[in-house]
Amino acid sequence: MIKQFLRKRVKTVKDILNTYVRKRGQNYRDTEWWDNSFYTEGISDRQTISPKKNQLSAKYHYNSVEMQILKHLYNNGISLNQSTVLDIGSGSGHWIDFYRYLGSTKLIGIDVSLSSVNYLKKKYSENPDVVVHHGKVSEILDKLDEKYDLINAIGIMFHVVDDGDWLSTIKSTQKSLKKGGLFVVGGHFGILDGLNVQIDSNGQINKRLRSKRHWTSALKKAGYSQLQFYSNNAYLWINNSLPENNVLIATK
Ligand SMILES: C[S@@+](CC[C@H](N)C(=O)[O-])C[C@H]1O[C@@H](n2cnc3c(N)ncnc32)[C@H](O)[C@@H]1O
Repeated sequence: MIKQFLRKRVKTVKDILNTYVRKRGQNYRDTEWWDNSFYTEGISDRQTISPKKNQLSAKYHYNSVEMQILKHLYNNGISLNQSTVLDIGSGSGHWIDFYRYLGSTKLIGIDVSLSSVNYLKKKYSENPDVVVHHGKVSEILDKLDEKYDLINAIGIMFHVVDDGDWLSTIKSTQKSLKKGGLFVVGGHFGILDGLNVQIDSNGQINKRLRSKRHWTSALKKAGYSQLQFYSNNAYLWINNSLPENNVLIATK
């Protein structure tokens, strides 16, 4: 536990230096990077974290995030029976399966990676309730003529490193939700804003964390009425690094 805590603190110090002092890197080319530099060994739940991620640790991560979402749904008496769900940054479809299990009957996925989209189209080829679109969320969402009960964005909003795209995506989610609909986001939501936490060997920044304060102000301005932050300290209890896995649930 102490080892994990310290590992994270040391990493944060390095990220602070790279972001605010050395100002390293430039925004990545997100339309190419996922296919060319990330999904190099195939698509599966664990490979949405990294190409060689350990299966147990990946499962542990997903379970810990699921618990935050289930807690919110149960404690607020929210049923997803017959719901329409949009999943942005769908990866291997973990969250499509999760909401399907909870009763959603119409599921729409978006992913910028063609490898992911091809994988998902094959995976759901026998399931007409699942539709998958290829492209950047900031370019696709406004074009879809649909209103959702829930928009899921686990492990993706920090990969929208362009600040303009990030903001416009938040506004688009609000417009695309039904009244009372939920925007479920996985991320960090800490004190530091605009912290670049992943810069690849070519100097491409592919992950930027926005602060809880920045998230709160952007969501309120977009018109969300109620915000709930769930902190998840599961990372302390496994000897492996996990992606940011706190959860924010905003209600329209
Ligand atoms: C870390 S993976 C997470 C996948 C999935 N949400 C999960 O939790 O298993 C991020 C996914 O988001 C996709 N992605 C990244 N930026 C995107 C963007 N701007 N628009 C759509 N998809 C994007 C990537 O291709 C990748 O499949």
